[in-house]
This record gives sequence, C-alpha cells and structure tokens, in this order.
Amino acid sequence: MNILVTGGAGYIGKAFINKYFENFDKIFVIDNLYDSFNKDFPENVIFFESNFGNKSVLEKVFNNNIDCVFHFAAYARIGESNSNPSPFFDNNVKQMIMLLDVMNDYNCKKIIFSSSASVFGNPTTIPVDENHPKLPISSYGETKLMGEKILEWYHKAYKINSISLRYFNAAGAFGDFGEQRKHETHILPLIFKSIREKKVFNIFGNDYKTKDGTCVRDYIHVEDLVDAHMLAFSNLDKIKFDAFNLGSEYGVSNLELIKLISDLLNVEPNYEFQSRRYGDPDELIASSVRAKKYLNWNHKHSITDIVQSLIKYYNAK
Ligand SMILES: NC(=O)c1ccc[n+]([C@@H]2O[C@H](COP(=O)([O-])OP(=O)(O)OC[C@H]3O[C@@H](n4cnc5c(N)ncnc54)[C@H](O)[C@@H]3O)[C@@H](O)[C@H]2O)c1
Repeated sequence: MNILVTGGAGYIGKAFINKYFENFDKIFVIDNLYDSFNKDFPENVIFFESNFGNKSVLEKVFNNNIDCVFHFAAYARIGESNSNPSPFFDNNVKQMIMLLDVMNDYNCKKIIFSSSASVFGNPTTIPVDENHPKLPISSYGETKLMGEKILEWYHKAYKINSISLRYFNAAGAFGDFGEQRKHETHILPLIFKSIREKKVFNIFGNDYKTKDGTCVRDYIHVEDLVDAHMLAFSNLDKIKFDAFNLGSEYGVSNLELIKLISDLLNVEPNYEFQSRRYGDPDELIASSVRAKKYLNWNHKHSITDIVQSLIKYYNAK
C-alpha cells in the first residue's frame, strides 16, 4: 500500500513517517522545505521538494496507486496569518483544493487532515468539544475551518472520505524527532532555547482569566498524535467523514510550564511578563471523549513525559 504525506519533512509528519513507515510499501512525501529539512527519512520514502499544490508533481505521485493522503503541510504561524493572510489562504486553501482535485481525478478517496484547535477561536466553554461554535480569530484558523468544510463538500459530492484531526498543542519529541523548524514560534522549543542561551523568556500577558493570569494550553505528545493518525486511517472506511478534537484534556499555564522545565533541569526560572499578543485565547483545553469512543484513541503521555522527552532530545543534539 502506498501513501502520500504532504509536509512530511515537518515536525509531526516526520514523526508519523518514522513511527509507521513499515506499515506501507512506498511513502511519497511532498514538502517545499519552507520550514524544515530534507533528512532522516526511511528507505521507502520518495521525496519531492515542491509545493503540495503543484499539479504535475501530484500527477507523478498519484500515478503510483496512492491509497490515502496524510495532509500535514500548512503555513501555521498564527500572528503572521493575521498581518499577512494572503499566503495562508493560498497555501492552506487554494493548494488543498488542487490536491483534492488531483486525488479525485486519480480515484484516491481517503485523506486524513491536520486541523487545529484554532477553528474554535476564543472558547466559551471548557473543555472544548466538537460541538463548540467554530469562530476562528486568526486567518490561520479560518483556513483550517475552510479545509474542513471543503472536505465535507468533497465527501458529499465526490465520495472522498476524510477525518480531520484538530490538534491542540503538539509537543515533545518522538525519539530522535523533535521540533526543528527554520523559524521557530512554538513555546516549548523557545523556552529550551532561552535556558540554553541563558536568556530571559518573555511570557505574553499575565492578566488572562486563568489560574495564574498566564495563558493555559493543552499539550499533547507528538507520538500520541501520530497514533491518532494511524487509528483514523484504520477506521476511515467505517467512519467515512468526521472531525475529532485531540488533546490531553489537561491545561497547563505558561508559568507552570516554565517552572516545570526549570525544576526538571534544576535551573532558576528566568522570565519576564510582556503585554498580551492579539489572538491568544485565555484557555484552550480539549475534550477528546469522541476520539476515545470512535477511534479508540487514548493519549499515553503526560506533560512531564513531554518535557522529559525534550530534555533527552536536546541533550542528544
Ligand atoms: N504543531 C502544532 O502544535 C499544531 C497544532 C495544530 C495543528 N497543527 C497542524 O499540523 C500540521 C503539521 O504541523 P507541524 O507542527 O508538523 O508543522 P511544521 O511547520 O513543522 O511542518 C509543516 C511542513 O509543511 C511544509 N509545507 C508548508 N507549506 C507547504 C507547501 N505549500 N508545500 C509543501 N510543503 C509545505 C513545511 O515545509 C513543513 O515541513 C500543520 O498543518 C499544522 O497547521 C499543528
């Protein structure tokens, strides 16, 4: 069985490939290396450095009897998506339509889509379940919601089956595979960097309506996320079309996170408060009840496991 993994050189796509490559004959990866590096692929990976919306590259790939697409590729920097939305709509929506059209032309009818908690915007109820209103407050979140809606129409009209997996905050390292982006904006790698470089870490906002005033997020280990992809793939023929929230159902504040890392590394926490950034909700905690019920998914790693996996990963680098 052959699959296509878009964004397979990125953090979560690469962890997925490296955990599950033995389940597939050939894994075609399309990644433009915008934010990642072409390395560490198993032998059955065939790599194309390209936009995933490039029709001629897609046609080359789909000539190989692709059973399913795992669609990880996207632009994902939330702040930038509000100041300059155009490339986000081009990349995350326009190119996705091309991908789906070529899939349909070649009779590939299965896709697992990397969606995001950002489709919900500023939650009004916690934990956030799948019925929560979807009102994105970033153009990034809007592109993910549009992706989900396009998938719904392509399911109705063209019988393309899909599962959208809405990750909350992906975190941690799966063995040798951790976050290694060209431009980092995610909190955990940035905290580790500030500790390594003995620099102060900026926490944006200490006046949120949360337990200690700093933003609260739900961190989910990358291995738990890639396991959900495999379960979604196994259940796709039965489920046909759905979306699931994936989180640990446990909230950690920015302050708690920095203290936990400092404790485990035995260093003094070194942080300063800065003013809030636009578009950061107070609290984001998932309800993953449906993923447990319908995908038989259970997360295995705690926030301490996440931090410990990162300590090991950064020590080995
Ligand atoms: N990391 C998180 O916490 C998180 C949370 C929610 C959703 N997501 C979604 O999960 C997916 C994977 O996230 P990640 O953290 O691995 O991101 P990442 O940035 O590490 O990886 C994304 C990969 O996609 C590639 N890419 C982007 N646009 C492309 C294009 N047009 N053509 C080809 N390749 C392209 C990048 O070069 C990169 O290798 C993304 O869709 C992201 O929006 C991530």
